[in-house]
Amino acid sequence: MPLTGRDLLSLKDYNTEEILLILELAAVLKEKQKKGEPHALLAGKTLAMIFEKASTRTRVSFEVGMWQLGGTALFLAAQDLQLGRGEPLKDTARTLSRYVDGIMVRTYAQEDLEELAFFASVPVINALTDRFHPCQALADLLTIKEHFGKFTDQKLAYIGDGNNVAHSLLLACSAVGLDIVVASPCGYEPEEEIVALARSRAHPGKKVEICNDPHAAAEGATILYTDVWTSMGQEQEAEQRRSEFLPFQLNTALLEKADERAIVLHCLPAHRGEEITDTVIEGEKSYVFDQAENRLHVQKALMAMLMGDKKGGVYNWLK
Ligand code: CP
Ligand code: NVA
Repeated sequence: MPLTGRDLLSLKDYNTEEILLILELAAVLKEKQKKGEPHALLAGKTLAMIFEKASTRTRVSFEVGMWQLGGTALFLAAQDLQLGRGEPLKDTARTLSRYVDGIMVRTYAQEDLEELAFFASVPVINALTDRFHPCQALADLLTIKEHFGKFTDQKLAYIGDGNNVAHSLLLACSAVGLDIVVASPCGYEPEEEIVALARSRAHPGKKVEICNDPHAAAEGATILYTDVWTSMGQEQEAEQRRSEFLPFQLNTALLEKADERAIVLHCLPAHRGEEITDTVIEGEKSYVFDQAENRLHVQKALMAMLMGDKKGGVYNWLK
């Protein structure tokens, strides 16, 4: 079932089969890249990358990924575009669609991304909004699959802010049959609408739980995951959050509550001494750089599927 021409605005719009297909292609492309085998699935194609917020992993992995697929990427800082001087999103979307084959956007409001996607005639990819970070969750699933070989009998405990990363993990884990529990301080839980959606698509017998107790959440977890306490755009709340989130730090005591096979994930960038200790992030259970690497492979698969040709190429490489 080709995904050609689709957007990725949120994992809401992607079912289990489609998510597994992206992961399958990501594994194929990762192997080809490691072996030095050609995989120029997007030769001659161009991706526009609009950034309204800072980025290291997303910017570099998308740009390198396009290059490895035989295409090219344009870095467009929002403040340098006419967008930054008030040109409407709908005009930006229609103009860029005349030049490029795909648009990747990192912005604040999910509604802005959706408006841009509505007016664009090429695929639009969410590279983080205040509400979702789907590319991150896909890379996380790939990392979990590589490490454990399967999603069944795994429990992911997300400890911290019920933010964009937590929202995408809820949708990703529920779609592939992972148990997920999110432990957040009171008032910082994930949005109820997203939790309900995750529950509605959870596989039979699989759990989607929200709680306020990090130790109970970590109990028996095979994946412990955290993210910053203060996301981009919330800087004025940083001090308040630091005190409220303190009991939610991913430290050795919390790790000891988890399953003995447990791995530690963090989308990065990390604030050592806040949401995670240096000992844990540098420890042997930490796979954060495998996770960061997988952004490249999973986004290559995604771009090849959304922006590639319907016939031949990418779909011939899958079972
Ligand atoms: N995890 C992530 O999206 O990293 P960047 O903010 O560096 O892109
Ligand atoms: N939740 C973080 C993720 C950064 C990759 C943020 O939005 O800043």
